[in-house]
Amino acid sequence: MSAPIIRMRGVCKYHGRFAALTDIDLTVAAGEHVVICGPSGSGKSTLIRCINRLEEHDAGRIFVDEVELNADTRNIAAVRSEVGMVFQQFNLFPHLPILDNCTLALRLVRGLAPEAARELALGYLRRVQIANQAEKYPPELSGGQQQRAAIARSLCMRPKIMLFDEPTSALDPESIAEVLDVMADLARDGMTMICVTHEMAFARRIADRIIFMDHGRIVEAAPPQQFFSAPRSLRAKLFLSRLLRYEGSGAPGTAQTAPQAVATTAQFNLGDGSDG
Ligand SMILES: Nc1ncnc2c1ncn2[C@@H]1O[C@H](COP(=O)(O)OP(=O)(O)OP(=O)(O)O)[C@@H](O)[C@H]1O
Ligand SMILES: [Mg+2]
Repeated sequence: MSAPIIRMRGVCKYHGRFAALTDIDLTVAAGEHVVICGPSGSGKSTLIRCINRLEEHDAGRIFVDEVELNADTRNIAAVRSEVGMVFQQFNLFPHLPILDNCTLALRLVRGLAPEAARELALGYLRRVQIANQAEKYPPELSGGQQQRAAIARSLCMRPKIMLFDEPTSALDPESIAEVLDVMADLARDGMTMICVTHEMAFARRIADRIIFMDHGRIVEAAPPQQFFSAPRSLRAKLFLSRLLRYEGSGAPGTAQTAPQAVATTAQFNLGDGSDG
């Protein structure tokens, strides 16, 4: 495994007296693909938002590519320049065409000339297969197209790490598949990724490690094969059995095992599917 690119040690986050994160220890290697899952309110968003300082942690230490996230704004800027983030609700500027959404930061933050920014952005829009939508405004695109535009916009900044917070949970099934295809492509290219998602077929295919959270803690961390077939904690078992209740399966670890069940959402194009 390559060198760590993210290190969280004893990280805690409070809202008043409520602990949103407690003692988070997490090391992510460069090129690793981590999927975070867990019940609503378990701290998944808070955890990944701490990695680019959208949330400030109250205790513990976080290092991204050897830079510590602390009150030093230069460090925060350095980390943010390496970390891209994609949200459930796209967060595109609705009053700007897709191309301008992508070139804005390239011009204002990176100081690229308009033509260079345009070429770079079009390259990434081609990569996510929406170059033909470049002149449209976000509200004129489907959800899946908007999310792919948001991914392209992040990629324009050439991040070393991509964080995804439930990027497909607002989408229809076909759009989900389109966005997962793009994410799988990024994973294959070796991008370091942390994805909060409940697309378990996707997780099973691309994740090196699944992290299961509950009540602000990491309860379980395991390779997908192990997590889906034999989750150790009762909480994870319960979570998976609920998640898979409508997928025609029994609880994980029973005769009808979770891995078969989780393959039912595998509509995205990820090779031969022999392991699903
Ligand atoms: N600004 C805030 N003030 C108070 N409590 C907050 C705040 N932000 C988050 N929380 C609480 O922290 C906990 C963790 O929130 P978080 O958004 O990280 O959960 P999550 O696992 O991402 O949930 P979901 O699956 O619903 O997105 C929740 O109980 C939430 O209510
Ligand atoms: Mg969340």
